[in-house]
Amino acid sequence: MNDPRDPSSGLLYLSRADVVAAAGAGSGVFVDAVSEALALHARGAVAQPLKPYLRWRANSHIADRIIAMPAHVGGEQPMAGLKWIGSKHDNPERHGLERASALIVLNDPETHYPVAVMEGSLISAARTAAVTAVAARYLAQPGFRSLTCVGCGPIGTSQVFTLLEHFPSVTTVWLYDVKESAAIALTQGVAAHHPKVDVQIAADSESAVRAGDVIVTATVADEPWLPAAWLRPGSLLCNVSIMDAAKDVFLSADKVVVDDWDQCNREGKIIHQLTTEGSFSREQLHAELGEIVIGSRPGRESDEEVILLNPMGMAVIDVACAKAIYYRARQAKIGTWLSR
Ligand SMILES: NC(=O)c1ccc[n+]([C@@H]2O[C@H](COP(=O)([O-])OP(=O)(O)OC[C@H]3O[C@@H](n4cnc5c(N)ncnc54)[C@H](O)[C@@H]3O)[C@@H](O)[C@H]2O)c1
Repeated sequence: MNDPRDPSSGLLYLSRADVVAAAGAGSGVFVDAVSEALALHARGAVAQPLKPYLRWRANSHIADRIIAMPAHVGGEQPMAGLKWIGSKHDNPERHGLERASALIVLNDPETHYPVAVMEGSLISAARTAAVTAVAARYLAQPGFRSLTCVGCGPIGTSQVFTLLEHFPSVTTVWLYDVKESAAIALTQGVAAHHPKVDVQIAADSESAVRAGDVIVTATVADEPWLPAAWLRPGSLLCNVSIMDAAKDVFLSADKVVVDDWDQCNREGKIIHQLTTEGSFSREQLHAELGEIVIGSRPGRESDEEVILLNPMGMAVIDVACAKAIYYRARQAKIGTWLSR
């Protein structure tokens, strides 16, 4: 019933609760899977076609889309798969639902048969935060004390909790959200779980950004609002929501790091706009993150550098994390076996 090489064997379904149970406490499983996948990406041991964005409404919101993200992750325990992630910007207000929803399918790399289907939005948020945590190991000032998050939805929340877990040096968290209730909810969550951390709601995005050693953007902005002038020397800006950092941040940062150049340089995102204008190029990029993880490119080299991380989001990371959850679930006998 559970041999992935046997086409007649079942398909493991993992609900969101199953994923939570299989992941266990903390974000360690995601951080480990992300580190390994970034290294494999840097070594060319992955296959990851450009992801198609499905949109069908004219002039729709930037966050209204469904994205197909397929990948094969090589290494000692290879796996193939797909994240199919829907996004509708008004889900929270109109439907009381999270903006993003996702399913992940894993396929056996030998037979190509599907072996598992699982709820994917939790893995997606956790893997996105794990990318930031891995990046901060190499790109933030060691012992950084202040963390800023602008945009306090599920992604921002996951970022803050994962960073607090992995960087106990953080003493202050600054939050800002155009929707005050979102910032208040995250403030209360941080206060409850990290009573020694001073958590503050900033008056505006500028004061939030100016206060941070590490700054994370997790908004749904479709126009840049964060200029280079707001970043102090030594800061790391993790531009998770991609459209927040202004062009001058890319042009003036001491180091610009992406997860995957080809994935980033498209879809009219800021890097794509800059390369189209001729003001930025692959040569001006410092590194892809995996190159820093395997040591073929340096991370932070001084306390003064301003570093921009621009992680478009890679399918290999989703598949690597889903694979880790799948094996943990099988080990712990979590989930529901479906017949084919
Ligand atoms: N790079 C990646 O790998 C990756 C992965 C997953 C999600 N994301 C991105 O993360 C972002 C956040 O995702 P989410 O699921 O939390 O979305 P969400 O819509 O649930 O939450 C976004 C929050 O940002 C706030 N906000 C919107 N515009 C703002 C602004 N200009 N300033 C301050 N706050 C603002 C909203 O009020 C909301 O609380 C999305 O843009 C998504 O595409 C990136």
